[in-house]
Amino acid sequence: MAHTWLVTGGMGCIGAWALYHLRQRGERAVNFDQSIDRHRLNWLLSAEEQADITFVQGDLRDTAAVKAVFAEHGISRVIHLAALQVPMCRADPVLGAQVNVTGTVNIFEAARAHGVPHIALASSIGVYGPPEEFPPGLVPNDAPQRPRTLYGAYKACTELVAKVYFYDYGIASATLRPYTVYGLGRDQGMTSEPTKALVAAAKGQPYHIPFSGTMQFQLAADVARQFILAAERPLDGAYGFNLGGGAPATVGDFVAAARQALPKAQIEVADNPLPFPVGFDDGALRARYDTVYATPLAAGIAQTIAHITRLGDAI
Ligand SMILES: NC(=O)c1ccc[n+]([C@@H]2O[C@H](COP(=O)([O-])OP(=O)(O)OC[C@H]3O[C@@H](n4cnc5c(N)ncnc54)[C@H](O)[C@@H]3O)[C@@H](O)[C@H]2O)c1
Repeated sequence: MAHTWLVTGGMGCIGAWALYHLRQRGERAVNFDQSIDRHRLNWLLSAEEQADITFVQGDLRDTAAVKAVFAEHGISRVIHLAALQVPMCRADPVLGAQVNVTGTVNIFEAARAHGVPHIALASSIGVYGPPEEFPPGLVPNDAPQRPRTLYGAYKACTELVAKVYFYDYGIASATLRPYTVYGLGRDQGMTSEPTKALVAAAKGQPYHIPFSGTMQFQLAADVARQFILAAERPLDGAYGFNLGGGAPATVGDFVAAARQALPKAQIEVADNPLPFPVGFDDGALRARYDTVYATPLAAGIAQTIAHITRLGDAI
């Protein structure tokens, strides 16, 4: 049976890449987003290619609108990405809860109403909390979740919501927890700074990254493909997975890799480590899926710079 895919937040960074890969595969895809700003999609797909995608403008907080998109388009596969990120949840906590928590409940309600048995959705390593809460090394997949931001608290709540929808209604789910996503289109959110530095460097401009520290960098295209795989492989429960994706690296390593591709890059890094553990173990993800997309950092940075350079003044 041909599936119709729903991507929520397809105007965002990971969502645009998800739409790109679905379209490359010839899948029928519907994007649900309150934004009509296609700047990220325009960097990835021509207007003709975008015509293969159905665009529905709507607000995730609107239960009826979310249910309508499932009903009208016969949605059978779901990648739920739309959310407000850390700074936006901090600036408007009520709106953050409405979009990130109620919006996710709306997706599950629509899945329940329309008999969709499994969905993929985005959480974040922000659910875990600061490094002092954990022993040194990679944080295990089942470590206690002690978020210190409202964003992390909302994501932790949605992981619990996903579990209850499995217990009560049998809707299975795969919840993926990205760390620092980078790549074309990563232009908002706290950890978008390394990608912004690549854009500036490719244009010959200096850039100051306001944080340092060790973390896991994940290429947006890889993350999007992992979401696609997670959406098309029904599970027997509601599972959360750290994305991991390679050895932890410092922001300095990221800049050094950028200089391999752009030797004249003028990127400074502040001495200000982010309050997150250095990395998260992805053993559970690797045990569950035969493919884990993890482009090596240097190759991902080189690809991103090549893409930015190709786009020229369009970015
Ligand atoms: N980018 C990262 O480093 C990262 C890290 C961890 C987790 N995540 C999670 O992955 C998901 C995708 O991240 P991203 O970087 O692509 O996000 P993004 O901010 O680039 O895009 C989010 C999209 O959601 C849409 N949206 C926001 N509120 C909405 C609403 N009320 N109704 C409909 N659409 C709405 C926005 O218009 C936007 O297009 C999010 O859930 C995010 O929390 C991202």
